[in-house]
Amino acid sequence: MAQYDVVIIGGGPGGYNAAIRAGQLGLSVACVEGRATLGGTCLNVGCIPSKALLHASELYELARKDFASLGIKGAVELDLAQMQKQKGDSVGALTKGIEFLFKKNKVEWIKGFGRITGPGKVTVTGAGGDTVLDARNIVIATGSEPSRLPGVEVDQARIVDSTGALALSAVPKSMIVIGAGVIGLELGSVWRRLGAEVTVVEYLDRTLPGADAELAQAFQRSMTKQGITFRLGQKVTGAKTSATGVTLSFEPVAGGPAESLTADVVLLAVGRRPVTAGLGLESVGLATDARGFIATDHFRTAAPGVWAIGDVTYGPMLAHKAEDEGVACIELIAGKAGHVNYGIIPGVVYTYPEVAWVGKSEEELKAAGVAYKVGKFPFTANSRAKVNHEAEGFVKVLADATTDRILGVHMLGPQVGEMIGEYCVAMEFGAASEDVARTCHPHPTRSEALRQAAMGVEGWTMQA
Ligand code: NAI
Repeated sequence: MAQYDVVIIGGGPGGYNAAIRAGQLGLSVACVEGRATLGGTCLNVGCIPSKALLHASELYELARKDFASLGIKGAVELDLAQMQKQKGDSVGALTKGIEFLFKKNKVEWIKGFGRITGPGKVTVTGAGGDTVLDARNIVIATGSEPSRLPGVEVDQARIVDSTGALALSAVPKSMIVIGAGVIGLELGSVWRRLGAEVTVVEYLDRTLPGADAELAQAFQRSMTKQGITFRLGQKVTGAKTSATGVTLSFEPVAGGPAESLTADVVLLAVGRRPVTAGLGLESVGLATDARGFIATDHFRTAAPGVWAIGDVTYGPMLAHKAEDEGVACIELIAGKAGHVNYGIIPGVVYTYPEVAWVGKSEEELKAAGVAYKVGKFPFTANSRAKVNHEAEGFVKVLADATTDRILGVHMLGPQVGEMIGEYCVAMEFGAASEDVARTCHPHPTRSEALRQAAMGVEGWTMQA
């Protein structure tokens, strides 16, 4: 029987980063992954392919609608098959990159589906039958899958989840998105840009649950201006599929007459649920909560030698959160001081404009009774954004009213997902807003808006 210091179940961002870190620290490590390629949901059917389509569709829309005003003429036309192919090429190259990193760091990839079959035992069912691995430590990193909605049967043709929405071979004339969250608005944006009429049906009376309310409102206005229709406060009651489309029924959450809408395709994007069924947790005396999550304390589960990271545990279901947990978990296994700062996990929505935030929202600070100051700067007053004709959005900095420590940052604008890292580092170092306000930033760049918003906390913004 093969013996390992660590056996990781799942080869997504949590699992593969954990595996590589284990290899770096000299632990003998195997990573069990049943998919044909490494990288999990994120790399195969999530973050990465969606960004490939978001990038390509953004350029398509830009070329069609905005190039003429920049003095660039000529008609463009959509080749969806090629757009899908380049997406697949990028994904393929990146999954191979992880295989290379596994080899380089002496991580053994055991192909097949793993389940725990007793203390220190993982049984892998692969092409060649069952293999039993002996593990001093088992790390559960099996991730999550799209949540389902009763009465809305996903067939990946007419009614799709995120996986199906990434693989459509024709642009639907119309699309209804159930859920105004990250997936709904990112993939809804892709298909709207490519020509679909998109309606978003959402249970709550707002978009992007969890995001700062002012930010979510500005985001919704922007999406509406681009042509996405929002039906907020609506409870979906069912979906009927025919040869020509899907009829979705819904009714106001607050009460009132039921309605129905018909579209070529419905995208179900109402959240994700942990993948913990069939993992053999009972063989080590472990149970999940009612929603399938595994409780942990610094990644340790209640079963000795069994650890859990990423989407199967509590917290935001984000690849970078899982990655950080994977690394910290392995460092703890190796007797080092692994640590994740849960106060500084950024969120990004890769629409156009992008949405990015880190730390506390205004609502959270108010609820906690924290006195804070606000510094805000619009991109309309930023020269680089102006000359690029991309001046939508703002940067908002929230700082402690007494200590000036930065508590939260919320931004809407092109490329803000690339810029939020500056504030993550500042907050990790416990920066005050004045630290950012007094740091020289290159001119002319969008990053000056980060500084100007910080200057706004003390009321000395200069470019507005
Ligand atoms: P989400 O939790 O972001 O949004 C789901 C939305 O569906 C919510 O607004 C919710 O109120 C709504 N909803 C729930 N039940 C409903 C119902 N019966 N009828 C109508 N609306 C309903 O979940 P989403 O967008 O599916 O994303 C799943 C996960 O994947 C999230 O945790 C997200 O953070 C992650 N993700 C992150 C990305 C990023 O970081 N850019 C990209 C894609 C996904």
